[in-house]
Amino acid sequence: MRLMVTRDQIACRTPPLDIGSPAVEDLPRLPLRAHRSPALKGRLRAPGDKSISHRALIFGALAVGKTSIEGLLEGQDVINTARALRALGAQIDRVGEGAWRVNGVGVGGFMTPSAPLDFGNSGTGCRLLLGAVAGCPITAMFDGDASLRRRPMARVLEPLERIGARARTLAEGGRLPLTLQGALDPIPIVYEPPVASAQLKSAVLLAGLAAPGQTTVREREATRDHTERLLRHFGADLQVEDVAPYGRLITLIGEPELVPAPIVVPADPSSAAFPMVAALIVPGSDLILERVMTNSLRNGLYDTLMSMGARIEVIDQRLDGGEEVADFRVRAGELRGVEVPAERAPRMIDEYPVLAVAAAYAQGTTRMRGLSELRVKESDRLAATAAGLLANGIEVALEGDDLIVHGKGSVRGGGTVLTHMDHRIAMSFLIMGLASQQPIGVDDTAFIDTSFPGFVALMRTIGAVLG
Ligand code: S3P
Repeated sequence: MRLMVTRDQIACRTPPLDIGSPAVEDLPRLPLRAHRSPALKGRLRAPGDKSISHRALIFGALAVGKTSIEGLLEGQDVINTARALRALGAQIDRVGEGAWRVNGVGVGGFMTPSAPLDFGNSGTGCRLLLGAVAGCPITAMFDGDASLRRRPMARVLEPLERIGARARTLAEGGRLPLTLQGALDPIPIVYEPPVASAQLKSAVLLAGLAAPGQTTVREREATRDHTERLLRHFGADLQVEDVAPYGRLITLIGEPELVPAPIVVPADPSSAAFPMVAALIVPGSDLILERVMTNSLRNGLYDTLMSMGARIEVIDQRLDGGEEVADFRVRAGELRGVEVPAERAPRMIDEYPVLAVAAAYAQGTTRMRGLSELRVKESDRLAATAAGLLANGIEVALEGDDLIVHGKGSVRGGGTVLTHMDHRIAMSFLIMGLASQQPIGVDDTAFIDTSFPGFVALMRTIGAVLG
Protein backbone atom coordinates (compact mmCIF):
# COMPACT_ATOMS: atom_id res chain seq x y z
CA MET A 1 0.00 0.00 0.00
CA ARG A 2 1.30 3.46 -0.88
CA LEU A 3 1.87 5.72 2.13
CA MET A 4 0.91 9.31 1.43
CA VAL A 5 1.84 12.24 3.62
CA THR A 6 0.87 15.82 2.90
CA ARG A 7 3.20 18.71 3.44
CA ASP A 8 0.82 20.22 5.99
CA GLN A 9 1.26 17.25 8.24
CA ILE A 10 4.93 17.98 8.64
CA ALA A 11 6.56 20.86 10.52
CA CYS A 12 7.04 23.88 8.20
CA ARG A 13 10.82 23.77 8.53
CA THR A 14 10.85 20.41 6.76
CA PRO A 15 11.92 20.68 3.13
CA PRO A 16 9.31 19.93 0.44
CA LEU A 17 9.08 16.24 -0.19
CA ASP A 18 7.78 13.61 -2.44
CA ILE A 19 7.86 10.52 -0.35
CA GLY A 20 5.52 8.33 -2.31
CA SER A 21 7.65 5.33 -3.21
CA PRO A 22 6.18 2.57 -5.35
CA ALA A 23 4.14 0.02 -3.45
CA VAL A 24 5.85 -3.38 -3.24
CA GLU A 25 3.15 -5.02 -5.29
CA ASP A 26 3.63 -2.42 -8.10
CA LEU A 27 7.31 -3.24 -8.66
CA PRO A 28 8.33 -5.70 -11.37
CA ARG A 29 9.64 -8.94 -9.90
CA LEU A 30 12.73 -10.83 -10.99
CA PRO A 31 12.00 -14.48 -10.23
CA LEU A 32 14.70 -17.14 -10.56
CA ARG A 33 15.04 -20.90 -10.09
CA ALA A 34 17.94 -22.86 -8.67
CA HIS A 35 18.58 -26.34 -10.06
CA ARG A 36 20.49 -29.35 -8.78
CA SER A 37 24.07 -28.49 -9.72
CA PRO A 38 27.30 -30.35 -10.38
CA ALA A 39 30.09 -30.11 -7.77
CA LEU A 40 30.97 -26.45 -7.11
CA LYS A 41 34.65 -25.81 -7.75
CA GLY A 42 37.03 -22.88 -7.89
CA ARG A 43 37.89 -19.76 -5.91
CA LEU A 44 35.80 -16.74 -5.21
CA ARG A 45 35.84 -13.55 -3.23
CA ALA A 46 32.66 -12.24 -1.71
CA PRO A 47 32.10 -8.48 -2.01
CA GLY A 48 33.21 -5.98 0.64
CA ASP A 49 31.68 -6.10 4.09
CA LYS A 50 28.42 -4.17 4.22
CA SER A 51 28.75 -3.01 7.83
CA ILE A 52 32.27 -1.67 7.30
CA SER A 53 31.37 -0.10 3.96
CA HIS A 54 28.56 2.02 5.46
CA ARG A 55 30.81 3.04 8.33
CA ALA A 56 33.82 3.79 6.11
CA LEU A 57 31.75 6.34 4.19
CA ILE A 58 30.18 7.79 7.34
CA PHE A 59 33.45 8.20 9.24
CA GLY A 60 35.08 9.57 6.10
CA ALA A 61 32.29 12.16 5.96
CA LEU A 62 32.82 13.05 9.64
CA ALA A 63 36.60 13.43 9.31
CA VAL A 64 38.29 16.60 8.17
CA GLY A 65 40.15 15.91 4.92
CA LYS A 66 40.28 13.05 2.44
CA THR A 67 39.69 9.39 3.29
CA SER A 68 40.50 6.72 0.73
CA ILE A 69 38.53 3.48 0.73
CA GLU A 70 39.38 0.33 -1.20
CA GLY A 71 37.12 -2.68 -1.61
CA LEU A 72 33.91 -0.79 -0.79
CA LEU A 73 30.76 -2.82 -1.28
CA GLU A 74 28.99 -1.22 -4.24
CA GLY A 75 25.60 -2.64 -3.32
CA GLN A 76 22.48 -0.52 -3.36
CA ASP A 77 22.36 -0.12 0.44
CA VAL A 78 25.82 1.42 0.57
CA ILE A 79 25.19 3.57 -2.52
CA ASN A 80 22.16 5.01 -0.72
CA THR A 81 24.37 5.89 2.27
CA ALA A 82 26.85 7.61 -0.08
CA ARG A 83 23.99 9.62 -1.65
CA ALA A 84 22.67 10.65 1.75
CA LEU A 85 26.13 11.77 2.88
CA ARG A 86 26.52 13.85 -0.28
CA ALA A 87 23.18 15.48 0.46
CA LEU A 88 24.52 16.25 3.96
CA GLY A 89 27.54 18.06 2.48
CA ALA A 90 30.33 15.47 2.15
CA GLN A 91 32.16 15.14 -1.13
CA ILE A 92 32.20 11.51 -2.24
CA ASP A 93 33.78 10.24 -5.45
CA ARG A 94 34.20 6.84 -7.00
CA VAL A 95 37.66 6.63 -8.55
CA GLY A 96 37.68 2.96 -9.59
CA GLU A 97 36.04 -0.38 -8.85
CA GLY A 98 35.46 -0.38 -5.10
CA ALA A 99 37.78 2.63 -4.78
CA TRP A 100 36.17 5.70 -3.25
CA ARG A 101 37.38 9.01 -1.85
CA VAL A 102 35.50 10.94 0.80
CA ASN A 103 36.15 14.56 1.68
CA GLY A 104 34.61 15.03 5.08
CA VAL A 105 32.96 17.99 6.79
CA GLY A 106 34.04 17.22 10.38
CA VAL A 107 32.03 16.15 13.43
CA GLY A 108 28.87 18.26 13.71
CA GLY A 109 29.45 19.73 10.24
CA PHE A 110 26.56 18.29 8.23
CA MET A 111 24.24 20.74 6.45
CA THR A 112 20.48 20.53 6.09
CA PRO A 113 19.72 18.43 3.00
CA SER A 114 17.43 19.93 0.37
CA ALA A 115 15.40 16.75 -0.07
CA PRO A 116 14.44 13.70 2.02
CA LEU A 117 17.23 11.15 2.53
CA ASP A 118 16.13 7.87 0.95
CA PHE A 119 17.80 4.79 2.45
CA GLY A 120 15.96 2.31 0.25
CA ASN A 121 16.12 -1.12 1.91
CA SER A 122 18.88 -0.32 4.41
CA GLY A 123 18.29 -0.33 8.16
CA THR A 124 22.00 0.12 8.81
CA GLY A 125 22.43 3.22 6.63
CA CYS A 126 19.29 4.78 8.05
CA ARG A 127 19.92 4.08 11.74
CA LEU A 128 23.60 5.04 11.65
CA LEU A 129 22.83 8.32 9.93
CA LEU A 130 20.00 9.05 12.34
CA GLY A 131 22.74 8.95 14.97
CA ALA A 132 25.16 11.11 12.98
CA VAL A 133 22.48 13.71 12.18
CA ALA A 134 21.21 13.75 15.78
CA GLY A 135 24.42 15.47 16.87
CA CYS A 136 24.18 18.26 14.25
CA PRO A 137 22.05 21.43 14.41
CA ILE A 138 20.16 20.54 11.23
CA THR A 139 16.84 18.99 10.22
CA ALA A 140 16.57 16.05 7.84
CA MET A 141 13.81 13.82 6.62
CA PHE A 142 14.50 10.07 6.59
CA ASP A 143 12.68 7.61 4.36
CA GLY A 144 13.06 4.22 2.74
CA ASP A 145 11.27 1.53 0.78
CA ALA A 146 8.22 -0.42 1.96
CA SER A 147 10.41 -2.91 3.86
CA LEU A 148 12.32 -0.19 5.72
CA ARG A 149 9.08 1.69 6.46
CA ARG A 150 7.89 -1.37 8.36
CA ARG A 151 10.98 -1.60 10.59
CA PRO A 152 11.15 -0.18 14.12
CA MET A 153 12.95 3.14 14.50
CA ALA A 154 11.67 4.06 17.98
CA ARG A 155 14.48 2.01 19.54
CA VAL A 156 17.01 4.42 17.98
CA LEU A 157 14.97 7.59 18.44
CA GLU A 158 14.61 7.06 22.20
CA PRO A 159 18.34 7.50 23.06
CA LEU A 160 18.80 10.15 20.36
CA GLU A 161 16.05 12.23 21.99
CA ARG A 162 17.87 11.92 25.32
CA ILE A 163 20.92 13.36 23.57
CA GLY A 164 18.77 16.31 22.51
CA ALA A 165 17.44 15.47 19.04
CA ARG A 166 13.71 15.72 18.25
CA ALA A 167 11.92 13.28 15.97
CA ARG A 168 8.57 13.66 14.27
CA THR A 169 7.15 10.59 12.72
CA LEU A 170 3.76 10.30 11.13
CA ALA A 171 3.74 6.55 11.00
CA GLU A 172 2.73 4.39 13.94
CA GLY A 173 5.42 3.12 16.31
CA GLY A 174 8.13 5.61 15.37
CA ARG A 175 8.56 4.30 11.84
CA LEU A 176 9.65 6.00 8.61
CA PRO A 177 9.10 8.45 7.10
CA LEU A 178 10.33 10.70 9.87
CA THR A 179 11.88 14.09 10.38
CA LEU A 180 14.82 14.44 12.73
CA GLN A 181 15.86 17.75 14.19
CA GLY A 182 19.40 17.39 15.47
CA ALA A 183 20.46 18.67 18.89
CA LEU A 184 21.69 22.25 19.23
CA ASP A 185 23.68 21.26 22.33
CA PRO A 186 24.09 17.48 22.32
CA ILE A 187 24.18 15.91 25.78
CA PRO A 188 26.51 12.96 26.50
CA ILE A 189 24.53 10.02 27.89
CA VAL A 190 25.02 6.66 29.55
CA TYR A 191 23.03 4.15 27.55
CA GLU A 192 22.20 0.48 27.92
CA PRO A 193 20.61 -0.88 24.71
CA PRO A 194 17.49 -2.95 25.50
CA VAL A 195 18.30 -5.32 22.60
CA ALA A 196 21.63 -6.58 21.29
CA SER A 197 22.01 -4.32 18.26
CA ALA A 198 25.15 -2.92 16.67
CA GLN A 199 23.06 -0.39 14.79
CA LEU A 200 21.62 0.97 18.00
CA LYS A 201 25.01 1.12 19.74
CA SER A 202 26.54 2.80 16.68
CA ALA A 203 23.77 5.40 16.40
CA VAL A 204 24.39 6.46 20.01
CA LEU A 205 28.17 6.60 19.55
CA LEU A 206 27.80 8.61 16.34
CA ALA A 207 25.54 11.13 18.09
CA GLY A 208 27.90 11.12 21.09
CA LEU A 209 30.75 12.25 18.84
CA ALA A 210 29.21 15.72 18.78
CA ALA A 211 28.53 15.88 22.54
CA PRO A 212 31.07 17.38 24.95
CA GLY A 213 32.35 14.88 27.52
CA GLN A 214 31.87 11.16 27.85
CA THR A 215 29.22 9.04 26.08
CA THR A 216 28.97 5.52 27.49
CA VAL A 217 27.28 2.44 26.06
CA ARG A 218 26.87 -0.61 28.28
CA GLU A 219 26.34 -3.65 26.14
CA ARG A 220 25.02 -6.71 27.93
CA GLU A 221 25.84 -8.83 24.89
CA ALA A 222 28.72 -7.83 22.66
CA THR A 223 27.70 -6.97 19.09
CA ARG A 224 29.86 -6.34 16.02
CA ASP A 225 32.51 -3.76 16.89
CA HIS A 226 33.26 -2.10 13.55
CA THR A 227 32.16 1.32 14.82
CA GLU A 228 34.53 1.12 17.77
CA ARG A 229 37.42 -0.06 15.60
CA LEU A 230 36.89 2.64 13.00
CA LEU A 231 36.47 5.38 15.60
CA ARG A 232 39.89 4.45 16.96
CA HIS A 233 41.28 4.16 13.43
CA PHE A 234 40.20 7.79 12.87
CA GLY A 235 41.84 8.92 16.09
CA ALA A 236 38.89 9.14 18.51
CA ASP A 237 39.49 8.51 22.22
CA LEU A 238 37.44 5.36 22.82
CA GLN A 239 37.86 2.72 25.52
CA VAL A 240 36.30 -0.74 25.58
CA GLU A 241 36.28 -2.73 28.82
CA ASP A 242 34.79 -6.10 29.66
CA VAL A 243 32.97 -5.44 32.93
CA ALA A 244 30.82 -7.90 34.85
CA PRO A 245 27.83 -7.84 35.09
CA TYR A 246 27.32 -5.52 32.13
CA GLY A 247 29.28 -7.27 29.44
CA ARG A 248 31.07 -4.47 27.61
CA LEU A 249 31.49 -0.87 28.58
CA ILE A 250 32.28 1.45 25.68
CA THR A 251 33.36 4.98 26.51
CA LEU A 252 33.79 7.69 23.93
CA ILE A 253 35.18 11.17 24.54
CA GLY A 254 33.15 13.56 22.40
CA GLU A 255 34.15 16.36 20.04
CA PRO A 256 37.27 14.73 18.62
CA GLU A 257 38.77 15.89 15.38
CA LEU A 258 38.52 12.74 13.29
CA VAL A 259 41.61 12.32 11.14
CA PRO A 260 41.24 10.56 7.76
CA ALA A 261 42.87 7.15 7.62
CA PRO A 262 42.83 4.73 4.67
CA ILE A 263 40.39 1.82 4.82
CA VAL A 264 40.60 -1.55 3.09
CA VAL A 265 37.26 -3.34 3.32
CA PRO A 266 37.55 -7.14 3.74
CA ALA A 267 35.10 -9.62 2.19
CA ASP A 268 31.77 -9.82 3.99
CA PRO A 269 31.42 -13.03 6.04
CA SER A 270 27.63 -12.64 5.83
CA SER A 271 27.88 -12.78 2.02
CA ALA A 272 30.58 -15.48 1.95
CA ALA A 273 28.11 -17.56 4.00
CA PHE A 274 26.06 -18.30 0.86
CA PRO A 275 28.78 -19.94 -1.29
CA MET A 276 30.13 -21.54 1.91
CA VAL A 277 26.87 -23.36 2.64
CA ALA A 278 26.45 -24.13 -1.08
CA ALA A 279 29.82 -25.92 -1.10
CA LEU A 280 28.86 -27.91 2.01
CA ILE A 281 25.59 -29.24 0.54
CA VAL A 282 26.35 -29.79 -3.16
CA PRO A 283 28.03 -33.22 -3.34
CA GLY A 284 31.67 -33.25 -4.46
CA SER A 285 32.18 -29.49 -4.03
CA ASP A 286 35.59 -28.08 -3.16
CA LEU A 287 35.74 -24.30 -2.97
CA ILE A 288 38.16 -21.63 -1.80
CA LEU A 289 36.68 -18.45 -0.34
CA GLU A 290 39.24 -15.66 -0.29
CA ARG A 291 39.96 -12.93 2.24
CA VAL A 292 36.87 -13.40 4.38
CA MET A 293 36.74 -11.26 7.50
CA THR A 294 37.01 -13.44 10.64
CA ASN A 295 36.21 -10.79 13.28
CA SER A 296 35.28 -12.80 16.39
CA LEU A 297 31.99 -10.91 16.72
CA ARG A 298 30.95 -12.05 13.23
CA ASN A 299 32.05 -15.69 13.14
CA GLY A 300 29.15 -17.50 14.82
CA LEU A 301 28.17 -19.26 11.60
CA TYR A 302 31.65 -20.73 11.21
CA ASP A 303 31.56 -22.08 14.80
CA THR A 304 28.10 -23.52 14.25
CA LEU A 305 28.92 -25.18 10.93
CA MET A 306 32.07 -26.70 12.47
CA SER A 307 29.98 -28.16 15.29
CA MET A 308 27.72 -29.67 12.60
CA GLY A 309 30.73 -31.50 11.18
CA ALA A 310 31.42 -29.18 8.24
CA ARG A 311 34.64 -29.66 6.32
CA ILE A 312 35.96 -26.11 6.49
CA GLU A 313 39.66 -25.39 6.74
CA VAL A 314 41.17 -22.03 7.54
CA ILE A 315 44.16 -21.92 5.20
CA ASP A 316 45.66 -18.50 5.62
CA GLN A 317 44.75 -16.32 8.58
CA ARG A 318 46.28 -12.86 8.55
CA LEU A 319 45.75 -9.19 9.31
CA ASP A 320 44.71 -7.14 6.31
CA GLY A 321 43.67 -3.49 6.44
CA GLY A 322 43.27 -3.65 10.24
CA GLU A 323 40.86 -6.62 10.27
CA GLU A 324 41.59 -10.33 10.66
CA VAL A 325 40.89 -12.17 7.42
CA ALA A 326 41.35 -15.75 6.21
CA ASP A 327 40.96 -17.93 3.15
CA PHE A 328 38.64 -20.87 3.70
CA ARG A 329 38.63 -24.22 1.92
CA VAL A 330 35.13 -25.68 2.02
CA ARG A 331 34.27 -29.22 0.97
CA ALA A 332 30.95 -31.02 0.80
CA GLY A 333 30.21 -33.63 3.42
CA GLU A 334 27.67 -34.88 5.91
CA LEU A 335 26.27 -32.45 8.46
CA ARG A 336 24.50 -33.20 11.72
CA GLY A 337 21.83 -31.25 13.59
CA VAL A 338 22.95 -29.14 16.57
CA GLU A 339 21.66 -26.81 19.29
CA VAL A 340 22.51 -23.18 18.60
CA PRO A 341 22.44 -21.19 21.85
CA ALA A 342 20.70 -17.81 22.04
CA GLU A 343 23.95 -16.15 23.20
CA ARG A 344 25.46 -16.84 19.79
CA ALA A 345 22.82 -14.82 17.93
CA PRO A 346 24.60 -11.43 17.94
CA ARG A 347 27.65 -13.08 16.32
CA MET A 348 25.64 -14.50 13.44
CA ILE A 349 22.40 -12.54 13.36
CA ASP A 350 22.30 -12.27 9.55
CA GLU A 351 23.25 -15.90 8.92
CA TYR A 352 20.24 -17.77 10.31
CA PRO A 353 18.34 -18.17 7.02
CA VAL A 354 21.33 -19.81 5.35
CA LEU A 355 22.11 -21.81 8.50
CA ALA A 356 18.53 -23.12 8.33
CA VAL A 357 19.32 -24.29 4.79
CA ALA A 358 22.40 -26.16 6.04
CA ALA A 359 20.24 -27.61 8.83
CA ALA A 360 17.72 -28.86 6.28
CA TYR A 361 20.51 -30.92 4.64
CA ALA A 362 21.86 -32.16 7.98
CA GLN A 363 20.88 -35.41 9.67
CA GLY A 364 18.86 -34.69 12.79
CA THR A 365 17.32 -31.69 14.48
CA THR A 366 18.83 -28.21 14.65
CA ARG A 367 17.34 -25.88 17.22
CA MET A 368 18.24 -22.20 16.83
CA ARG A 369 17.33 -20.38 20.01
CA GLY A 370 16.45 -16.80 20.83
CA LEU A 371 15.79 -15.32 17.40
CA SER A 372 13.32 -12.53 18.24
CA GLU A 373 15.47 -9.94 16.43
CA LEU A 374 15.00 -11.85 13.18
CA ARG A 375 11.40 -10.65 13.14
CA VAL A 376 12.49 -7.05 12.51
CA LYS A 377 15.02 -7.48 9.72
CA GLU A 378 14.39 -6.65 6.05
CA SER A 379 11.46 -9.07 6.43
CA ASP A 380 10.18 -11.15 9.32
CA ARG A 381 13.01 -13.60 8.67
CA LEU A 382 11.80 -16.12 11.18
CA ALA A 383 8.47 -16.48 9.39
CA ALA A 384 9.97 -16.19 5.89
CA THR A 385 12.61 -18.87 6.59
CA ALA A 386 10.09 -21.25 8.12
CA ALA A 387 7.68 -20.74 5.20
CA GLY A 388 10.45 -21.32 2.64
CA LEU A 389 11.54 -24.55 4.31
CA LEU A 390 7.96 -25.77 4.57
CA ALA A 391 7.29 -25.01 0.89
CA ASN A 392 10.18 -27.32 0.01
CA GLY A 393 9.23 -30.33 2.10
CA ILE A 394 11.21 -29.68 5.28
CA GLU A 395 9.70 -30.36 8.67
CA VAL A 396 10.06 -27.13 10.61
CA ALA A 397 8.62 -25.60 13.78
CA LEU A 398 8.60 -22.21 15.46
CA GLU A 399 8.46 -22.38 19.25
CA GLY A 400 8.42 -18.87 20.68
CA ASP A 401 11.58 -17.31 19.29
CA ASP A 402 13.22 -20.65 18.45
CA LEU A 403 13.45 -22.10 14.95
CA ILE A 404 13.57 -25.89 14.80
CA VAL A 405 14.56 -27.66 11.60
CA HIS A 406 14.30 -31.44 11.26
CA GLY A 407 16.96 -32.39 8.75
CA LYS A 408 16.81 -35.66 6.84
CA GLY A 409 20.05 -35.32 4.88
CA SER A 410 18.27 -34.37 1.65
CA VAL A 411 15.68 -31.84 0.47
CA ARG A 412 12.74 -32.45 -1.84
CA GLY A 413 12.45 -28.87 -3.14
CA GLY A 414 9.89 -27.99 -5.80
CA GLY A 415 8.51 -24.96 -3.94
CA THR A 416 8.50 -21.25 -4.69
CA VAL A 417 9.73 -19.03 -1.90
CA LEU A 418 8.34 -15.58 -1.16
CA THR A 419 11.28 -13.28 -0.44
CA HIS A 420 9.40 -10.25 1.00
CA MET A 421 11.98 -7.69 -0.29
CA ASP A 422 14.68 -9.55 1.64
CA HIS A 423 18.05 -10.20 -0.06
CA ARG A 424 19.12 -12.88 2.40
CA ILE A 425 15.92 -14.88 2.04
CA ALA A 426 16.36 -14.80 -1.75
CA MET A 427 20.01 -15.95 -1.64
CA SER A 428 19.41 -18.60 1.05
CA PHE A 429 16.73 -20.41 -0.92
CA LEU A 430 18.62 -20.19 -4.21
CA ILE A 431 21.44 -21.96 -2.37
CA MET A 432 19.02 -24.57 -1.07
CA GLY A 433 17.89 -25.32 -4.64
CA LEU A 434 21.44 -26.17 -5.80
CA ALA A 435 21.23 -29.57 -4.09
CA SER A 436 17.49 -30.32 -3.85
CA GLN A 437 15.79 -33.08 -5.83
CA GLN A 438 13.48 -30.61 -7.59
CA PRO A 439 14.31 -26.98 -8.48
CA ILE A 440 13.50 -24.23 -6.00
CA GLY A 441 12.14 -20.90 -7.20
CA VAL A 442 12.29 -17.51 -5.50
CA ASP A 443 9.73 -14.88 -6.44
CA ASP A 444 12.16 -11.96 -6.58
CA THR A 445 15.93 -11.56 -6.82
CA ALA A 446 15.95 -7.76 -7.23
CA PHE A 447 16.95 -7.09 -3.62
CA ILE A 448 20.08 -9.26 -3.80
CA ASP A 449 21.83 -6.18 -5.19
CA THR A 450 21.45 -4.42 -1.85
CA SER A 451 24.26 -6.52 -0.34
CA PHE A 452 25.71 -8.87 -2.99
CA PRO A 453 25.76 -7.34 -6.45
CA GLY A 454 26.73 -9.98 -9.02
CA PHE A 455 25.70 -12.88 -6.76
CA VAL A 456 24.03 -14.91 -9.52
CA ALA A 457 26.89 -14.41 -12.00
CA LEU A 458 29.53 -15.24 -9.37
CA MET A 459 27.71 -18.41 -8.27
CA ARG A 460 27.50 -19.49 -11.93
CA THR A 461 31.30 -19.19 -12.27
CA ILE A 462 31.71 -22.00 -9.73
CA GLY A 463 29.09 -24.20 -11.38
CA ALA A 464 25.76 -23.19 -9.82
CA VAL A 465 22.83 -23.74 -12.17
CA LEU A 466 20.55 -20.74 -11.78
CA GLY A 467 17.99 -19.71 -14.36
C1 S3P B 1 24.43 -4.33 11.31
C2 S3P B 1 23.87 -4.81 12.47
C3 S3P B 1 22.85 -5.86 12.50
C4 S3P B 1 22.75 -6.60 11.18
C5 S3P B 1 22.78 -5.69 10.00
C6 S3P B 1 24.08 -4.89 10.00
C7 S3P B 1 25.42 -3.25 11.41
O1 S3P B 1 21.61 -5.27 12.79
O2 S3P B 1 21.57 -7.36 11.14
O3 S3P B 1 22.71 -6.41 8.78
O4 S3P B 1 26.13 -3.00 10.41
O5 S3P B 1 25.53 -2.63 12.48
P1 S3P B 1 21.13 -5.01 14.31
O6 S3P B 1 22.06 -4.04 14.89
O7 S3P B 1 19.74 -4.45 14.19
O8 S3P B 1 21.16 -6.36 14.94
